[in-house]
Amino acid sequence: MIRFENVSRTYGQGASAVHALREVSFSIEAGAFVTIVGASGSGKSTLLNLMGALDHPSSGQIYIAEQNLYGMDDNARTLLRRDKIGFVFQFFNLLPTLTARENVALPANLAGRRGRATDERATQLLSSVGLAARIHHKPDALSGGEMQRVAIARALMMDPPVLLADEPTGNLDSETGRSILGLLRGATSDRRTVVLVTHDPKITAEGDRVLTMADGRLAKDERRDRAGVQAAVAQVASVT
Ligand SMILES: Nc1ncnc2c1ncn2[C@@H]1O[C@H](COP(=O)(O)OP(=O)(O)OP(=O)(O)O)[C@@H](O)[C@H]1O
Ligand SMILES: [Mg+2]
Repeated sequence: MIRFENVSRTYGQGASAVHALREVSFSIEAGAFVTIVGASGSGKSTLLNLMGALDHPSSGQIYIAEQNLYGMDDNARTLLRRDKIGFVFQFFNLLPTLTARENVALPANLAGRRGRATDERATQLLSSVGLAARIHHKPDALSGGEMQRVAIARALMMDPPVLLADEPTGNLDSETGRSILGLLRGATSDRRTVVLVTHDPKITAEGDRVLTMADGRLAKDERRDRAGVQAAVAQVASVT
């Protein structure tokens, strides 16, 4: 579903160049729940932004659903991003002038879809994240956890096969973070791959696959079976 081939991303030039990613290669199968960890500055957000068609690699290729993401023109990439990729950010990135439902419906509206069916889908998604009573609230009338639920509903509006989240619990208390994690894990299916960047070891431990970044390189790539995941979660819970 997602493939990186020798991907590098360098910011700046010459003596001040920062090698944020260095020759990173991996592939992620459809339906996986993948967590990405690593020290601050190790390249996690750079990696996720490239995966989400929000940036350009300096070299290498990235494939989403067998399509070469940066081998197509800007228009095609914008459409692919709209239809195939949902993105959840640490700071929610909701539009403050729109209600929860309008924020959720926005990707469909931008694709030219308006009207009752679109509104109903947005309402249904908000209900599915526990916000049936908040559909007409604007972001400033919502808590952080509620805003992140709206952002998840928005990211699911187009039913994308790829859902990406960069520190989605980074701004939330741990209990609220757990419920957000539950929603993201629940969004994973045989039709949807979810990739999550996190600092939280409890969340990391829940990945079917854990990619560890260090200094712009993929330092570790661990696969876990469900029993292994549960053991890891229990172990983390017992030390915290
Ligand atoms: N726009 C930019 N211009 C220059 N350097 C950048 C830019 N964005 C990121 N970097 C640098 O690239 C490196 C990787 O950054 P990145 O944001 O990917 O790290 P990260 O692993 O997400 O860190 P954090 O855990 O703090 O979010 C860092 O050294 C960072 O300073
Ligand atoms: Mg980051």
